[in-house]
Amino acid sequence: MSDTEFSTDQTDKTEQLRARLLDWFYRDRRNLPWRGEISPYRVWISEVMLQQTQVVTVIPYYERFLEAFPTLTDLALASLDDVLKVWEGLGYYARARNLHNAARKMVEKWDGDLPDNYVDLLSLPGFGHYTAGAVASIAFGEVVPAVDGNVKRVIARLFAIESSVKQGEGAVQVQNIATELVDPQQPGDWTETLIEFGALICLPRSPRCPDCPVQDLCQARQRGLENTLPVRASKKPLPHYDVTAAVIRRPDDDERLLIAQRPPDGMLGGLWEFPGGKRQLDESLPECLRREIREELGVEIEVGEPLVTVKHSYTHFKITLYAYHCRLVSGDPQALQVADWRWVTLAELDTYAFPRTDEKIIKALHQ
Ligand code: ADE
Repeated sequence: MSDTEFSTDQTDKTEQLRARLLDWFYRDRRNLPWRGEISPYRVWISEVMLQQTQVVTVIPYYERFLEAFPTLTDLALASLDDVLKVWEGLGYYARARNLHNAARKMVEKWDGDLPDNYVDLLSLPGFGHYTAGAVASIAFGEVVPAVDGNVKRVIARLFAIESSVKQGEGAVQVQNIATELVDPQQPGDWTETLIEFGALICLPRSPRCPDCPVQDLCQARQRGLENTLPVRASKKPLPHYDVTAAVIRRPDDDERLLIAQRPPDGMLGGLWEFPGGKRQLDESLPECLRREIREELGVEIEVGEPLVTVKHSYTHFKITLYAYHCRLVSGDPQALQVADWRWVTLAELDTYAFPRTDEKIIKALHQ
């Protein structure tokens, strides 16, 4: 086959893929809140929420977020605490901190609008290649790809890429193909088409090939590889840690509890919690709590009855969190390794944003 024939075939396949997948999208797409009245701000919020998070989980958060912060200026003027409170439970809290930071930068530098192109978007906090590509294409019609996990899987199958699409050569191949595939007339719809197709038809496990509008063009299907591609790295088991949390009261006051705010950067940054931390080797759980509270807040506590045990998986590790009722013995709290601290009543806890694990401690306190 000559080069010209090859490229004609490729062009033909690209056009067929675009036409049939877009047709499928216009017919079968879900009616999602961010697909109604669209604006760059709404596209941005939805795309950030949808990273690592299922559509069904995102919908109520998206609606509440837009109610709380209807415009980019509202978001920029809000306090980080208020933004985290609305985000509470959605996870990956760096996304909320970055949204807030980026909104402030957009007010300073772009008159309260999103910049309208991929390169400027990429310069803002929280915008990686995916988010910049998704917002630039969907909100501004720029002809750029947006490659997320769905798109990697779809391309790995359609083009039978047999190396890992997460890194190295396979990832470059996916990026190049995704760039070639973008529909120049409908770049935003194309971005959503590939993602929707990955979410509804080209599923991670058991892809729905009989319902696929491009099954005859899919190289993985032709070669019986639809269930093996993309190749998966063998998963190592996640490390596990024992973690403690103290529900501290003062000797003369059963009403108020001590909560601490996590430092702004890093995991769960800016959220409030019952202070504590990771158990070290050869340390008992009460010893761990007394040490952590001394290091973080400079006070001595007595560790009492266990309150609740919570198991939780994060992206890179798992924990068992042991919460204890505790009493302050001496000292006044100081923000040594925490951003802030407060004595609060059970009712006041509601106004602070906590990680999921600490929400379970609060639930146990209410019982
Ligand atoms: N996942 C990421 N972006 C999405 C979108 N715009 N619609 C549905 N799911 C998505």
